[in-house]
Amino acid sequence: MERSGAGPPGVADKVFKFEDKTRQEKLSVSIPEVLDPQHGMHVWPCAVVLAQYLWTHRAELKGRTVLELGAGVSLPGVMAALLGAQVILSDSSDKPRCLENCRRSCEANGLQNVSVLGLTWGDVSPDLILLPKLDVVLGSDVFYDPEDFEDVLVTFVCLLRKNPEAQFWTTYQVRSADWSIEVLLHRWNLDCVEVPLARFGADEPELAGSSLPGSHSIQMMIITQKKDTAEIIQG
Ligand SMILES: C[S@@+](CC[C@H](N)C(=O)[O-])C[C@H]1O[C@@H](n2cnc3c(N)ncnc32)[C@H](O)[C@@H]1O
Repeated sequence: MERSGAGPPGVADKVFKFEDKTRQEKLSVSIPEVLDPQHGMHVWPCAVVLAQYLWTHRAELKGRTVLELGAGVSLPGVMAALLGAQVILSDSSDKPRCLENCRRSCEANGLQNVSVLGLTWGDVSPDLILLPKLDVVLGSDVFYDPEDFEDVLVTFVCLLRKNPEAQFWTTYQVRSADWSIEVLLHRWNLDCVEVPLARFGADEPELAGSSLPGSHSIQMMIITQKKDTAEIIQG
């Protein structure tokens, strides 16, 4: 894993190198990390797995409108922007340092057209309501505190109002066998499909030159509105 210390004090770039050997395509993403153990200051294992999913689905991302929730240092959102999506990065509105990290990650990759927004899960704010119609919502390791699980899903449900076909692409790190979003998915009329990591080459302890995935148990899920519900809302 490459690191460079050219940024401000306490910030070091981590470089992730994605590669498609069959098509001979490569993409490097530089993510400045803050030397601080708090959430949202560095890349989490889930982010590398979600970025690998985006890399293998890059043909679907071009021109799509994408929002990342709880982005922190924003590896997946930055990857989506580099792949040609119109991207909005967000983190909690009361975490200005995380919002600063989102901006720093954009700068590190020469991205000028990415918006950064304070969006707190479960908070139906004017900024949330005013978002454009989204195709894809990204969330890497946003289900890490069971107290927030429902708020994350409620935020996605609000976004479905503008586009009932929107998809939530999310990676989840299994930290306790007792945690589950099953009941909440049912309550909010959502469907969830788990994508096996082997299907997009993420079943490796090392990805994109990073050993972050390691032996963590990570799941890739696609959450959508239940089909019958989408039809009722559209009338
Ligand atoms: C475990 S970190 C994951 C960060 C990043 N997505 C990654 O995977 O590298 C969780 C992220 O969620 C953000 N977060 C926590 N509570 C939040 C809330 N109530 N609303 C929005 N974002 C929140 C944190 O600031 C942090 O960036």
